[in-house]
Amino acid sequence: MNYTITAALPYTNGGVHIGHLAGVYLPADIFSRYLRSRGKTVAFVCGSDEHGVPITLKARKEGISPQQVVDKYHHIIKQSFEDLGISFDIYHRTSDPIHHKTAADFFKTLYDKGVLVEKTTQQFFDTVANQFLADRYITGTCPKCGNEKAYGDQCERCGSTLNATDLISPRSTLSSSEPILKATKHWFLPLDSMQTRLSKWILEDHKDWKTNVYGQCKSWLDAGLQPRAVTRDLDWGVKIPLPDTEGKVLYVWFDAPIGYISATKALAIQKGLRWEDYWQNEDTRLIQFIGKDNIVFHCIIFPAMLMLHEGFILPENVPANEFLNLEGEKISTSRNWAVWLDEYVKDFPNQQDSLRYALCATMPETKDNDFTWKDFQARNNNELVATFGNFINRVVTLIHKYYGGMVPDLDVDILTDYDRKIIDEIALFPKKIGDSIEQYRFREALTELMNLARLGNKYLADTEPWKLIKVAPDVVKNILKIGVEITANLSILAEPFMPFTTQKLLFMLNAHKMNWDEAGRIDLLPKNHVINESQLLFSKIEDAQIEVQTQRLARIKAEQQADSKAVEPQKIDIIFDDFVKIDIRIGTIVAAEKVAKAKKLLKLTIDTGIDQRTVVSGIAEHYSPEAIVGQQVSILVNLAAREIKGIASQGMILMAEDADGKLRFLQPSQQIANGSTVS
Ligand code: 2FM
Ligand code: ZN
Repeated sequence: MNYTITAALPYTNGGVHIGHLAGVYLPADIFSRYLRSRGKTVAFVCGSDEHGVPITLKARKEGISPQQVVDKYHHIIKQSFEDLGISFDIYHRTSDPIHHKTAADFFKTLYDKGVLVEKTTQQFFDTVANQFLADRYITGTCPKCGNEKAYGDQCERCGSTLNATDLISPRSTLSSSEPILKATKHWFLPLDSMQTRLSKWILEDHKDWKTNVYGQCKSWLDAGLQPRAVTRDLDWGVKIPLPDTEGKVLYVWFDAPIGYISATKALAIQKGLRWEDYWQNEDTRLIQFIGKDNIVFHCIIFPAMLMLHEGFILPENVPANEFLNLEGEKISTSRNWAVWLDEYVKDFPNQQDSLRYALCATMPETKDNDFTWKDFQARNNNELVATFGNFINRVVTLIHKYYGGMVPDLDVDILTDYDRKIIDEIALFPKKIGDSIEQYRFREALTELMNLARLGNKYLADTEPWKLIKVAPDVVKNILKIGVEITANLSILAEPFMPFTTQKLLFMLNAHKMNWDEAGRIDLLPKNHVINESQLLFSKIEDAQIEVQTQRLARIKAEQQADSKAVEPQKIDIIFDDFVKIDIRIGTIVAAEKVAKAKKLLKLTIDTGIDQRTVVSGIAEHYSPEAIVGQQVSILVNLAAREIKGIASQGMILMAEDADGKLRFLQPSQQIANGSTVS
């Protein structure tokens, strides 16, 4: 049986970060490495997703071509994956001619079968740039929150999904002109006609899918599927293989999943294989690793494409993960709130497995999870250094000290009950860890792996071979033989998670890589086997290294706060009738005092012309009470009274606030009667 393992093709308009790694590439890699260790035939494929509007926008912004943008990031991303040990059999790219041909042929087959629905719709068109505008090329005011910089598909301030025609005062980002609506022809995938088939396939036949995946599919299906356009008016992407389609390309989400197939074709060419064995053979199992934002495309749209095309297998599972946050906040490429993999490998050289380990331990398998640098440090220092590394180092060092590096033989006649218990327990680990991996429970699998190292550590601590060596040297031989066999087992079972460490471990053990199905035994190392000296598997991560990282994030946050404060965006429009409800007067501060136990508050007595009233105001850090008595201020007098720190506050003093949070009164330019209205 073959396995086709895919990992979402990353967009090539930026690098890859820990969220990508924990969400998609690490679980896919652990799964693929495990299967290979079980002797399965695996094609683990991925590549760069190089089409789509964001890439053209980036190219325009940087004054380079889209091809130059994707070339740059394709190489950065590819290198990052290699650096972190992601063992793709191929890392392809969708700008490759193989992909263009595969995607165009796929479209043509659907077209020839009469499956696609041709429709003419009204789309925004820029008459200055003389081109149709993708939704992302249009900005305008969000009808929901008033954000003037909302995009035609989404408002990034309030998160609403929009249609470009919803925007108030739409503008083209290409020319700043007002776009017009113009008719254009596109081809639609008739998802509505696939509703029944997809519902059965997912909701009845795939109850085994992860609940987050199943739930999202169910809500799409319950809402009713609609036809979706699979072409766009754009000049960057796969050309439509039909006449008179100049200026149109396949929609990026149509061509990208076909990228898995074209990557497999390219792999087949390199390795002399048949790609059909990985996509068109009923015995092949297709598993697709993705993040939760890609669920609908992989569980509904891509399977619908495959079903309509015919001849392809469908995914057996799509084990999507949720999102990883960073220090409590959503990872964001545009805000640079991320740990970039290319930066990690520079800052922590030769410590790839520490990151792989920490990310696997915090993998967002069932809900969003948080990565913190402190947790990363603790896992490295307390688990990898103090448990895993320490155990192996003690075993290897003692074997060198007592036997010059030669692994002692086991003397079964003198095995203690405790030794036998340990041997029995070792035998259980390969299945326990393997079962968890097969159920996509990578965190559980990793915990079990560490339990084996803990078992070894405890065994040494309990038996204390360094004390027994004088009085019972034969017993020590058994202990260290069992100990070194645990390390040999670790070299097999840890490999999917920490491949760099297991390489070093195999060198220390002077052994070749062994397969999963050999694990569980205590005769992995042959008679008279000589091991190498101990070497450091993990090094401690110091507080200073963590400080560097947390300070970098603090700087990013500070810069963003300054940026976002520089100009507060305009609020949503109100009508004149709303404005006239507001009653602002000029009044004079006649008394001011500090409010007990509230360092920001002053209690003011204001002569409003209407009355003398008390107002509690948050200005104590900006004005001293004595300095403001006698000053005129603007006061919102018809604000319903509120109790602040036990004081009834009747109204609000109007203040101007700058980007640094400095507050100043709004005052008349010259003295004017108290009670004067402001309008
Ligand atoms: O979300 C993303 O990063 C997309 N580029 C994933 C594409 S997956 C597949 F369909 F190629
Ligand atoms: Zn909005």
